[in-house]
Amino acid sequence: MHTMFKRFPLFLALAALMAALAASLPAHAQRANDPAAAALLGNDARFHPVIAGHGMVAAQERIAAQVGADILLAGGNAVDAAVATGFALAVTHPQAGNIGGGGFMLISLSAAKKIAAIDYRETAPAAAAKNMFLEETGNVDRDRARYSRASSGVPGTVAGLLYALEHYGTLPRGKVLEPAIKLAEEGFPVSYGFAYTLEKGHERFAADPSSKAYFEHPDGKPYKAGEILRQPDLAKTLHAIASEGAHGFYEGPVAKLIEDEMKQNGGLITVEDLRNYKPIEREPVRGSYRGYDIVSMPPPSSGGVHVIQILNILEGYDLAKLGHNTADSIHRLVEAMRRAYADRAKYLGDPGFVKVPAAGLISKQYAAQLRAGIDVSHASKSEDISAGKPPGTESEQTTHFSIIDNDGNAVSNTYTLNLAFGSGYSVDGAGFLLNNEMDDFSAKPGAPNAFGLLGGEANAIAPGKRPLSSMAPTIVLKNGAPFLVTGSPGGSTIITVVVQEILNVLAYDMNIAEATAAARIHHQWQPDTVISERGVSDDTLRILESRGFVIPRNNDGSFQHRVLGRANSIMKANGYLLGAADTRDADAAAIGY
Ligand code: GLY
Repeated sequence: MHTMFKRFPLFLALAALMAALAASLPAHAQRANDPAAAALLGNDARFHPVIAGHGMVAAQERIAAQVGADILLAGGNAVDAAVATGFALAVTHPQAGNIGGGGFMLISLSAAKKIAAIDYRETAPAAAAKNMFLEETGNVDRDRARYSRASSGVPGTVAGLLYALEHYGTLPRGKVLEPAIKLAEEGFPVSYGFAYTLEKGHERFAADPSSKAYFEHPDGKPYKAGEILRQPDLAKTLHAIASEGAHGFYEGPVAKLIEDEMKQNGGLITVEDLRNYKPIEREPVRGSYRGYDIVSMPPPSSGGVHVIQILNILEGYDLAKLGHNTADSIHRLVEAMRRAYADRAKYLGDPGFVKVPAAGLISKQYAAQLRAGIDVSHASKSEDISAGKPPGTESEQTTHFSIIDNDGNAVSNTYTLNLAFGSGYSVDGAGFLLNNEMDDFSAKPGAPNAFGLLGGEANAIAPGKRPLSSMAPTIVLKNGAPFLVTGSPGGSTIITVVVQEILNVLAYDMNIAEATAAARIHHQWQPDTVISERGVSDDTLRILESRGFVIPRNNDGSFQHRVLGRANSIMKANGYLLGAADTRDADAAAIGY
């Protein structure tokens, strides 16, 4: 007889003791006994995510991520944590976190089984006009489109965050704004990463005395790591928002300060524009990839439509068999991206102003048609690819955070000032930077914006219209519940970065830390070049070149590389939350409990 059975009573007693012990452990410690979980979290992975049992925030700046995690711990839901993190990032990460910009939030509510998509994108002011950035010569005045007060759209962030809180949050406004107010009033230590960014921002602040006063020492010296940055004017504005809600920003003294700033300096936003601003709750776009549901942001972001379109095209290939970042798989990724961005330039715009054939663009049938046109031995030429017929380097300082709470609610939020520190101009007396989102419109058909993106009539400037975005906050569902929450900054590269986050998990079986660390590639139709990160092998790039792909090289012949995106994502596995803050950013953090 087996010795275990000889000692059966002892074995039973031990098993009962272990079961009793397990029952008294916190939930995530209990799950550590799960053999499947042990395999996932064992030593086979080259990169490990942050692991938690109940709630997680992954964001681009640690202090703001902690603010969100503290709200979760205090009993707030994912939306409360998102709003608190959003306002905190406006203080601790002002290169992209903001109250003077706009963005998109996707919320998955587990009890209601609902996914809400909140569009709080900026709008063009009433005085905006189609040709407002054209010089007499007909050329685009790029400085005015990007670095002037006229480059600012009517900010949507405050209205969007408060809409989310009022409709889907649980905590009072004062409670979620409290940490941001404290950080602005008392200050916070500047990190190495932030000190570097502030130093780089020096040029952008030069034209505006208020930005210089807010983000530099009185003698013009940049803040060094470890110094405390206090923002008392911003604290006053946040106080007004906490006590009066959206009125505290869109009406009254803050609105007047914004209008004054504009009036004196060639900007267009008026008190009336501010009073008229409304966030819009939209139906998310939905697709699928190999049994998983992909839910993302609809127009006026192009993000969701093209993430789904690219995944649809790629679903027809066995990427796992082709291998991760091999020439064969990159070849297919690039061709799918090329076709999606050609469609983006033609069809995408604010659905309040133009008819966007979103359903056709995300249909499997259209993807099959595009896939059929891909030659897997030779590169296409972008000049030969124009938009299909669907049925029916600038700094990229947008920022994304992902949150999952203990009840399975999830938030995926991307917001921005557009370029780093937006227009570079702050509202004097109100303490915050304004966006330069007007550059995301197509100032002239065929003239590239700051991200090299082309556009046409669908994205022309018009009063009240929202500029086309690439932001793609996305939630992947498995059996109807959030499985992966992801998104990224990166201007035009957002879409392709999000696609690779999803593929790395769903097609290549990586955990989210591996998926996020993996080298990325990007192609956006025009310019017709494959951008790669360091880590994609030279051999692979040479094979791609031999097939006709254009891959930029340096003067010494070496391949050029560029960092692509900064995704902050959370996935669920074996009952755990696995968080990964993108290590491409010095300050990013995933914090769970
Ligand atoms: N400003 C970048 C984007 O919205 O795509």
